[in-house]
Amino acid sequence: VRFYREAAGSAPLLVVTNREPVVWKGEGVLSLPPGGVSQTIHRLLSRTGGRWIALRDSGGPDGLRVPGEEGDPGYRLDRMDIPPALMEGHYAGFSNGVLWPFFHDEPARISGSQDDLLAYREVNRRVAARVVESLRESRPSLVWVHDYQMALVGREMRRSGGSLPPLAFFWHIPWTAMPSGEIPPRWLFEIVSGLLSYDQVGFQTELYRDRFLETVFSLFGSRASWDGETLSVTTDGGVRRLHPGVFPISIDPDHFRMMARDPANLLRARLFLEDLGLNPETHPGGYLISVDRLDYSKGFLERLDMLEALYSLDPSLAGRVSLLQVAPSTRLSVDAYRRYAEAAEARAEALNRRYSREGWRPVVTVSRSLDPSLLAPLYRLSRGCLVTATRDGMNLVAKEFLASQDGGSSPLFVSRHTGTAMTMEGLSLIDPADPRLSARIIQEGLSMDPREVQRKNLDALAFLREHNVYRWMASNLARPLLAASLASGALAL
Ligand code: F6P
Repeated sequence: VRFYREAAGSAPLLVVTNREPVVWKGEGVLSLPPGGVSQTIHRLLSRTGGRWIALRDSGGPDGLRVPGEEGDPGYRLDRMDIPPALMEGHYAGFSNGVLWPFFHDEPARISGSQDDLLAYREVNRRVAARVVESLRESRPSLVWVHDYQMALVGREMRRSGGSLPPLAFFWHIPWTAMPSGEIPPRWLFEIVSGLLSYDQVGFQTELYRDRFLETVFSLFGSRASWDGETLSVTTDGGVRRLHPGVFPISIDPDHFRMMARDPANLLRARLFLEDLGLNPETHPGGYLISVDRLDYSKGFLERLDMLEALYSLDPSLAGRVSLLQVAPSTRLSVDAYRRYAEAAEARAEALNRRYSREGWRPVVTVSRSLDPSLLAPLYRLSRGCLVTATRDGMNLVAKEFLASQDGGSSPLFVSRHTGTAMTMEGLSLIDPADPRLSARIIQEGLSMDPREVQRKNLDALAFLREHNVYRWMASNLARPLLAASLASGALAL
């Protein structure tokens, strides 16, 4: 935060996302929607100050002032109204019917039409126009655009002409490998060309960045070159130069540690568990916790397979250790999500029918999102955490769990297909593609010497404290901010 304030001086940051960071509950009461990206950036921007442009999702006025905590400046939220049919094509149609399954290696779930692509383009164009208009009111130190729903905003801003502040983009989800020999879909050329409009495009891991570069080379051939820092591509509009960087997103671990230790939060969590029949005092076997939007990429079916394999591997766990899954529904206007939610529910019911005993259920599902101040103590009181994503750009739940454990002795089991597994060492890796092997790893982890688990958790926490979300922001923005300062002559070297 200090770095940002010094580097940016008095010029605020302008953030652009698809989803707005708060839900208006009437009378000025705001709550955070589920989803790591909006919560993370909300935390940053409420401390640095700045402006945020997003698509409106709930009531309340435009130009909302979102307050910061304890003396933090907060930020201004500009909420854009998009007509429902256009939004449907953009969000359910192209963003989550095409881009999401494509980049999460789920080609069989792709469904979308040419109209959806047109809607996506149009929404990106409108957002870009709003950003350009806001530049006339106040010029930010840089514009920071996020995620696959907004890939074309930079291109549309450049088309509008005029001088622009540096444009940074962050791609939060995985980048898929280009299947060799297959002709890339036509729209991919447009998405990639759109990304080339930014001055920097950030990725979560080296693997995703390298796959992006491979995609650029397969689409542009010898018109593209990369010197390890700068990617240059000759396009119809001239030569584009940008920095494709690697910046693994993180959390504020101290915030989660404090929330997890707070006696009032712990009491609330115990009462919550009591209501679910999971009070650790009366159910000493405890619960494994999972927290995900109900998305096929989060591996719900695979997780339930793992649980069943765990019970058959160690029958003493059936009747004792439950799975508590916090699983708010998501994107239900997309067919693939509706079908998947039904399948996941049916699978959980089948498991419950088979294994339930008097006063005990194997699977307890909470179908709404929970406030982080309740989640943190729930992580802390758990027997362990399961992250089973089949593909995930990063996965912040794993990091939140480690921070909330705060050196406790409950293990984390994390899918090797997550950015978290790819960028942190010493984690217990599972593989949703192999539920039986994963069950064995979970069984071993649950019976490990608690001091050994505690040591692993403390090492991971030390890493997170160093690689926290503030560092993520600083490393992300350092290069574009420096370039801007040099260009304006504001920074004397
Ligand atoms: O990066 C994935 C992402 O789109 C994030 O922007 C967001 O945190 C999450 O998925 C939630 O998605 P949605 O806005 O569609 O609910």
